[in-house]
Amino acid sequence: MSKPRIGIVISTTRQGRFGDKPAAWVHALAAARGDLAFEIVDLRDYPMPLFEEAASPAYVPPKNEAARRWGQKVAELDGFIFVTAEYNRGPPAALKNALDHAYTEFNRKPVAFVGYGGVGAARAVEQLRLICIELQMAPTRSGVHIGGADFIGMFMQGKTFADMPHLDPTATVMLDELAWWTHALNAARAETALKAA
Ligand SMILES: Cc1cc2nc3c(=O)[nH]c(=O)nc-3n(C[C@H](O)[C@H](O)[C@H](O)COP(=O)(O)O)c2cc1C
Repeated sequence: MSKPRIGIVISTTRQGRFGDKPAAWVHALAAARGDLAFEIVDLRDYPMPLFEEAASPAYVPPKNEAARRWGQKVAELDGFIFVTAEYNRGPPAALKNALDHAYTEFNRKPVAFVGYGGVGAARAVEQLRLICIELQMAPTRSGVHIGGADFIGMFMQGKTFADMPHLDPTATVMLDELAWWTHALNAARAETALKAA
């Protein structure tokens, strides 16, 4: 049986963004695991307009081409890691806009978080957990929060993740939880599909 697929979503799109670095770091740690398959999903590859569809994608599939491709990508995946900044104490607009452009494709799938910023994007991640509940997702408890001197060291002082080995165990805890929920929800979705057939 093929491994469940997890999308590591880079959630900011501006030129010169920091988001590539934590995404590459968590991808390298995750790829060493044997129980799940991981891929980077970059929101830059899905340049959706600010939401202008006729209705929520819960009821009407989007017409926009990038949004349709985004929905197909979300449908292919069994779980998610949102690698996110915090913009004005909330999630980056590009990520919220992307979440608004799909619905059923997210349902009954787990999501974990890697946040970065002054307080490790903790406030943005808490808001994202609430948003993801409306998408009928299962947000995991343990996130990775890259904040304070760790973030400033990498953002402004030329340090890298190689200088921050204390962060690696936080990723392991997050990935272990995500793996448990991914396997549990994959099995539950498969059983529901069998009963419906
Ligand atoms: C519009 C904007 C708002 C920001 N607001 C916050 C904030 O509320 N909390 C915080 O820790 N950092 C904030 N920052 C600083 C970001 O943590 C920092 O710029 C980070 O690199 C943004 O992620 P990115 O480089 O992937 O875009 C803000 C940055 C921008 C551009």
